[in-house]
Amino acid sequence: MVTYVDAGTAPMRKNGQIKLYGPEAFDGMRAAGRLVAECLDMLVGEVDVGVPTDRIDQLVFEFAMDHRAYPATLMYRGYERSTCTSINHVVCHGIPNDKPLRDGDIVNVDVTFVLDGWHGDSSRMYAVGEIPRRAERLIDVTYESLMLGVAAVKPGNTVGDIGHAIQSFVEPQHMSVVRDFCGHGLGRMFHDEPNIVHLGRPGEGSVLKPGMFFTIEPMINLGRPHVKVLSDGWTAVTRDRSLSAQFEHTVAVTETGVEIFTLSPKGLDKPPYKSVG
Ligand code: MF3
Ligand code: CO
Ligand code: CO
Repeated sequence: MVTYVDAGTAPMRKNGQIKLYGPEAFDGMRAAGRLVAECLDMLVGEVDVGVPTDRIDQLVFEFAMDHRAYPATLMYRGYERSTCTSINHVVCHGIPNDKPLRDGDIVNVDVTFVLDGWHGDSSRMYAVGEIPRRAERLIDVTYESLMLGVAAVKPGNTVGDIGHAIQSFVEPQHMSVVRDFCGHGLGRMFHDEPNIVHLGRPGEGSVLKPGMFFTIEPMINLGRPHVKVLSDGWTAVTRDRSLSAQFEHTVAVTETGVEIFTLSPKGLDKPPYKSVG
């Protein structure tokens, strides 16, 4: 049985309790979430044919430094970059490198900033040049699944309701939901209780209460759901090498429903496409 605790008096560490945050925390999370969204907006137009993911990582690092924020992934559990850049069949945790992006690639850029001690965590897909029609469909379904998950967030609903909203939308379209990675509580910590699994049954799992902060970040595959982690210890890829996409928002449970902290101020939450085929 999960217990809940006032975040103001809770220990900083992960101890199985779900933290409930007050109004000052909401202000801190709004600022952190907005900065991440502005950074992801900045990358539209930078992610392009011939650009290496190293360059994207550098732009994100500089953006953080210019806005008195710190990339939470930098030196996190041995990770040494400001972003994760996950291309095509990479599911998540792709490490930026010096290989130029190619026409037709789809790439997820995942940014987490710490601003005044608060974490904002969001990722979006970017289309490199002209992408295949099936990639566009995958991106659309993945984005829609995130927003359906978000729409299931309100007091009294459960974590299972979020997962069910995502799974029941994705699977009838012959795409699959990745099981091995999930969303997570966050606030002053990067990864906290609860886990937000992107599948589930209505009414199951922890009950959502006002003041909870967490991410929803479904990874959706065109093929089977199975993943493996490469020998670098980070890069997760689809076992069948099918295309994978992901979007992530940081949200709060409010008294009446949900607040999204990482919405794009410019309405660039999902990419415009030049598609072929
Ligand atoms: N930002 C990722 C998430 O959504 C976590 C990346 S951890 C890293 O939770 F170490 F791989 F960067
Ligand atoms: Co996350
Ligand atoms: Co993230």
